[in-house]
Amino acid sequence: MLFIACTQWREARVQISFAILKEEKRKMKTKQTIAIIGASGNMGSAISKSISGGNYRLLLLADKEEGKVRNLISSIQDINPSADVEFINCSREASWEADIIISAVPYAAEKEVAEKIKEVANQKIVISITNPLNKTFDGLETSPYMSAAEELQKLLPNSKIIKAFNTTFAHDFSTGQTDGRQLDSFIAGNDEEALQTVSELVSTAGFNPVIAGDLSVSRTLESLLLQNISHN
Ligand SMILES: NC(=O)c1ccc[n+]([C@@H]2O[C@H](COP(=O)([O-])OP(=O)(O)OC[C@H]3O[C@@H](n4cnc5c(N)ncnc54)[C@H](OP(=O)(O)O)[C@@H]3O)[C@@H](O)[C@H]2O)c1
Repeated sequence: MLFIACTQWREARVQISFAILKEEKRKMKTKQTIAIIGASGNMGSAISKSISGGNYRLLLLADKEEGKVRNLISSIQDINPSADVEFINCSREASWEADIIISAVPYAAEKEVAEKIKEVANQKIVISITNPLNKTFDGLETSPYMSAAEELQKLLPNSKIIKAFNTTFAHDFSTGQTDGRQLDSFIAGNDEEALQTVSELVSTAGFNPVIAGDLSVSRTLESLLLQNISHN
């Protein structure tokens, strides 16, 4: 009897040790590297600032406005001296290093960006924030049966495309609130683990993440922004 009791006690101790180890591992979760293509823009810089306090290493890119990204890095480091953030001038190299790639460029530039990163974005999360607005801001350039995010998925078939941040305006990032209420930020995608990872990112940025559905729901999310602009 005593032998059985000791064995059980030992097993219980082993199980507790495993549980503690698992928890420690969760806490020490490895830092993820995020490449932000279009960091010199309104959205790219707002996203960069808002997540710079998280457990991320940020690689920031511009197309032409390198100076803007260098100023952004200085302002991030003024607020948060321990922020892990650097400028990189090659989207392919940055995407190769990254776990997550954020495409914060205009809709018209996404195809070009996809072509540059295609070979190094396999199995990685690529976040599409774009709204394919037409030139007069009163319609979408995509057909009602297609979204910019699904188009990006076709261009990058081996990446995990997630739609996020397209329903939040750049100026909302400073507080993540309106009238004292935390803003919802909608997310759509086909990969469950990627959706969870992006939910954590959206939460770090200061918003309430809401998983709206699979990637086809991006059609609704992109239309939603158009409605929002029309109302405002
Ligand atoms: N503004 C908003 O509130 C808002 C809200 C939701 C979603 N969005 C979406 O967010 C995206 C960015 O909007 P934004 O307002 O931030 O635009 P923006 O201020 O004009 O910034 C665009 C960024 O994309 C870069 N870029 C342009 N063409 C490129 C190319 N061919 N290759 C690589 N980088 C390129 C620009 O680099 P350079 O500066 O170096 O030229 C700049 O960093 C758009 O798709 C928009 O629909 C915007």
